[in-house]
Amino acid sequence: MRILVLLGPPGAGKGTQAKRLEKAYGIVQLSTGDMLRAAVASGSALGQQAKDVMDAGRLMPDDIMTKIISDRVEQPDCANGFILDGFPRTRAQAEALDALLDGKGLALDKVIELKVVEQALVERISGRFACANCGAGYHDTFQPPKTPGVCDVCGSTEFKRRADDTAETVRARLAAYREQTAPILPYYRDKGILVEVDGMADIDEVTRQIEQLLNG
Ligand code: AP5
Ligand code: MG
Repeated sequence: MRILVLLGPPGAGKGTQAKRLEKAYGIVQLSTGDMLRAAVASGSALGQQAKDVMDAGRLMPDDIMTKIISDRVEQPDCANGFILDGFPRTRAQAEALDALLDGKGLALDKVIELKVVEQALVERISGRFACANCGAGYHDTFQPPKTPGVCDVCGSTEFKRRADDTAETVRARLAAYREQTAPILPYYRDKGILVEVDGMADIDEVTRQIEQLLNG
């Protein structure tokens, strides 16, 4: 069973790489951002709260996020392993994750930090879009569909952009990363499971670097 964490600021490529690892290793991507966006779309009470928090670029409360993940890892599709994308994001979440895994006799294999320079992130995020039908991710410049306007994966011609991908919200998300998430890097470094990848390389090269680290 392989359990990985992808860590990095907004736009670092966590979702892009998690989807590739999902295919390469047969383990499931657990994106807390995607889970919250699904809650927003469903109109639930959690979704109402998540919408306000996400639009402001702040973080959801630790107890709510920890509960979401602890319920999610009980699903049968996690039996082979999973890639956490967007969780943990605070020291409290990192400790809760350790306790959760420990209780199941499991442990994290690797925490992969995607290292990027902040200036590149606004361009990445402002060019991002996804298929409205299957969720496949694209970028206007860096990862356009092979046929313009048609999803490579499912053939849909409908695309969507995220509500929190505005310049102002991205600044707040970057600040949240710097202040609340980056401080958990030393926590994993001390445990000897943190590995760094050059997230500024092109998408295929980043995948190659991650696979090399995991296979090596
Ligand atoms: P979340 O959805 O996790 O957003 P994020 O962390 O801000 O990260 P992004 O999804 O924006 O970036 P990414 O690293 O996945 O990049 P991507 O692969 O898309 O969280 C959203 C919100 O939910 C948070 O702000 C918070 O409010 C809340 N939340 C979620 N989890 C939480 C938690 N645990 N606790 C509390 N609150 C939580 O790539 C970006 C673009 O760049 C794409 O278009 C892609 O094609 C392109 N790209 C990717 N890699 C490369 C490359 N190497 N070169 C060139 N282009 C690239
Ligand atoms: Mg993402």
